[in-house]
Formats: sequence, C-alpha cells, structure tokens
Amino acid sequence: MSARALSFGATAKAYERFRPGYPKELFDLVMTYAGRPVRTALEIGAGTGKATRLFADQGVTITATEPDAAMLAELNKTVPPNVTTVRAAFEDLRSGETYGLVYAAAALHWTRPEGRWSRAAALLEPEGVFASFGGQVQLADPAVAEAVRAARAPFLESDEVPSPDGTAPGEEMQWPGTELQQSPLFLDVQQAVVKRRLTMSAPDYVGYLSTVSAYLQLPPPKRQQAYNAITRVLPERVEISADIIAHLARRRSE
Ligand SMILES: C[S@@+](CC[C@H](N)C(=O)[O-])C[C@H]1O[C@@H](n2cnc3c(N)ncnc32)[C@H](O)[C@@H]1O
Repeated sequence: MSARALSFGATAKAYERFRPGYPKELFDLVMTYAGRPVRTALEIGAGTGKATRLFADQGVTITATEPDAAMLAELNKTVPPNVTTVRAAFEDLRSGETYGLVYAAAALHWTRPEGRWSRAAALLEPEGVFASFGGQVQLADPAVAEAVRAARAPFLESDEVPSPDGTAPGEEMQWPGTELQQSPLFLDVQQAVVKRRLTMSAPDYVGYLSTVSAYLQLPPPKRQQAYNAITRVLPERVEISADIIAHLARRRSE
C-alpha cells in the first residue's frame, strides 16, 4: 500500500474530530436502491467509523475492515454492538462469508485496481449491493477558495485526490461508476449526489486540512507553513460545500 494510502493513521484523532460524518439521506439512498432489507454489510477502509455508525445506527450488522491500526483504535472506541472490526486491507480480505451490502466511504480509491471488482463481487450475496461514496470538502465562497489556493500554491499545487481512472470532472459518470459499468460482474450502475452545505470555524477548517492526504505528504515544517498561510486568509467562519457523490451497483445473480 502507498505511503499516502496509509497517511491517515498518524492523524486518526484529528480525522475523527474534524471530518464531517455522513447524513441519514445517504443511508436512505442506499436502502432505496437496494429495494429490500439489508441486514449485513462489509465496510472497506472504515477509518474511525464515520460511515460505520451511519449504517450500524440503522440496525445493519457490520463487519468493518480497516488496515491502519491507529484508525482502527479510534473506531474501536465508539463501536456499537452490531459491529465487528477487523484489521485488514481490502486486498487481504478472504471471501467466504457474503453480505447484502459491501460499501466504501472515501476509501475505495486507496485500494489496488487489480482484482477490485472480482473481490467485491465475491463478498456479495447474489444481487447484493455495492456502494462507494465520498466527496471533496470545498470552500463554497469563490473569493475565499481563490485566496486559499493562492496561499497554498507555494507548498502544494492541489489538495484534491485525482480520479483513479482519469475521468474528467465534467464527465456525467464519475469513477468508480465508470469501472463498474465496464465490469461484467455488476449491473444497474447508478450515480447520485447528496447535497450538503456546512459552516465551520476557521480553526476547524484547518483541522480538517490536517487530515487531507495531500498535506500529510508534505514535510512537517512545510505543512505547518501551509496551514499558517491558509489561516491568515480565512474568515472567522467558512462556508463549505460537502456534497456526497455515491455510486451504486448490484451484483449479477449468476
Ligand atoms: C479517507 S479515509 C476514510 C475513512 C472512513 N471510511 C470515512 O469515510 O471517514 C481512507 C481510509 O482508507 C484506508 N485504506 C487505505 N488503503 C486501504 C486499502 N488498501 N484497503 C482498505 N482500506 C484502505 C485508510 O487507512 C483510511 O482509513
């Protein structure tokens, strides 16, 4: 696994504190797509458990998998009784048990592309649902976004995670929907957006940036300089656009 994929553990506490959680609309979206009760789920890259809690709180029995020990330690602090946690990367999961839902929240792009879809399909019951969701936290005010871009530029060109298959941001179907559409193992690929606007204090926004992998790749002194430069241009409270893009697909039954 790349150093960037495993960069989150060092900052697990900040991750739990500053990253937004997932809204109930997302659970409803997945369940409406499933069209039948989903009782069991396997989560890929559960991190500190933000999406684990979304599904567990609605009564789904979850096997939450996560390769990073520090992230898993945070998750284990809040784990509800209907969740079992397992320390494992997606690539190391052995199929055997199958689930009604396999999902990944802001984690699928860290998994290896080779064998991704056969591995996911092997973990699903026939007609079981695969869901991947995530989204960038973006500054909603264009003037603030531009000021932050300029403050960040000497340290980091972009803090976004590029599309794993190079799909352009303007394309109607985004990754991983693009890959799912090409996989013979899945059908009925859908993409949906859950709109979300949030407000954060400037320190909380910088706290959020302290969990973003692009910054975590910088040497610590440069990283701190970048946060200081950004802090200087932020208003007291920042408007955030944190839309969630979800991709859904169903495992073929044969
Ligand atoms: C951006 S965090 C998302 C955490 C959580 N799902 C959430 O939405 O808050 C990405 C997670 O993917 C995990 N990860 C990295 N490589 C992975 C892999 N190969 N298989 C499974 N998880 C992986 C990281 O350890 C990290 O916890």
